Amino acid sequence: MAHLNRKTLLVTRTLPQASQERLDRGLDGVEVIQWKEDRAIPRSEFLKLAKGVDGILCLLTDKIDSELLDAAGPQLKVVSTMSVGFDHVSVKELESRKILLGNTPGVLTDATADTTLLLVLSAGRRLREGVDAVIQGKWGAWSPTWLLGTQLTEKTVGIVGLGRIGVAVAKRLRAFGVEKILYQGTKPKPEAEAEVGGKIEFAELDQLLKESDVICVCCALNDKTQNMFNYETFSKMKRDVVFVNTARGGIVDQSGLIRALKEGKLGSVGLDVTVPEPLPTDSELLQFPNCIVLPHIGSGTMETRTAMSEIAIENALSGLKGEALPHPHNA
Ligand code: DGY
Repeated sequence: MAHLNRKTLLVTRTLPQASQERLDRGLDGVEVIQWKEDRAIPRSEFLKLAKGVDGILCLLTDKIDSELLDAAGPQLKVVSTMSVGFDHVSVKELESRKILLGNTPGVLTDATADTTLLLVLSAGRRLREGVDAVIQGKWGAWSPTWLLGTQLTEKTVGIVGLGRIGVAVAKRLRAFGVEKILYQGTKPKPEAEAEVGGKIEFAELDQLLKESDVICVCCALNDKTQNMFNYETFSKMKRDVVFVNTARGGIVDQSGLIRALKEGKLGSVGLDVTVPEPLPTDSELLQFPNCIVLPHIGSGTMETRTAMSEIAIENALSGLKGEALPHPHNA
């Protein structure tokens, strides 16, 4: 009987329009259970709705750990996250239970690299202060010395994490006339030069910290990168550095960042990611005029989010059928 083979897929949020319409039209042989409220699924609901499902399509806001997997049960075959990052998923737990994990690499590279440049330019050119001045009526006659920022021409930029997004950032930076691009990561990647379209130099972290006028964090969050940027590392940077993080908040020790900002150790800061998210409005971080915080919108374009949700659906469907995922997390 056909219905005996029908699988259930829990989707933890309303998806971008085209993908949502696809779900609403119905997926062949799949019953969709969906949390459709306009807020992240509360943990208690997640634990309840996961019970007995064969697949989960989740977001980076949904923690997938042993408690959730226990609540789901042993029939769970696939977890498909609509994100490239999967630090919210306990990969070891999934592996030990032979549950497949899919993510959405590639499609958010351009949008996230664009956001990185947006923050580099906004922080370096003091966008927040300028906009605030206009709104608060503090815009006086044109002044040769007011709100002077820093530009990228002939500067040294350090990229931490030369994955797809890091490479796309390097490529964009070249168009702004930077002099030198240093990068840091698990290993040198000379082959990336062809894609970047120019010379890039692998550097030890200390060298990158000391020499860079601009530092862009583009690496994944893991045990090695957690709190990699802290008071000590900030103290090694140039005093007028532009520091930008579009990766994960946990890569930065925020108390160390706040201390460094208070002590004037950093030129300007641009963050698309924080701990926690959302950042409470009374966070000290928001009090520094030279720190711009965006609400984790790195991949936030209609095109990219639609591409991500489509991949997430494809991963989930393949996993439910017992097939290899088109985009497994470890590809
Ligand atoms: C991801 O997919 O991991 C990004 O952080 C979303 O913008």
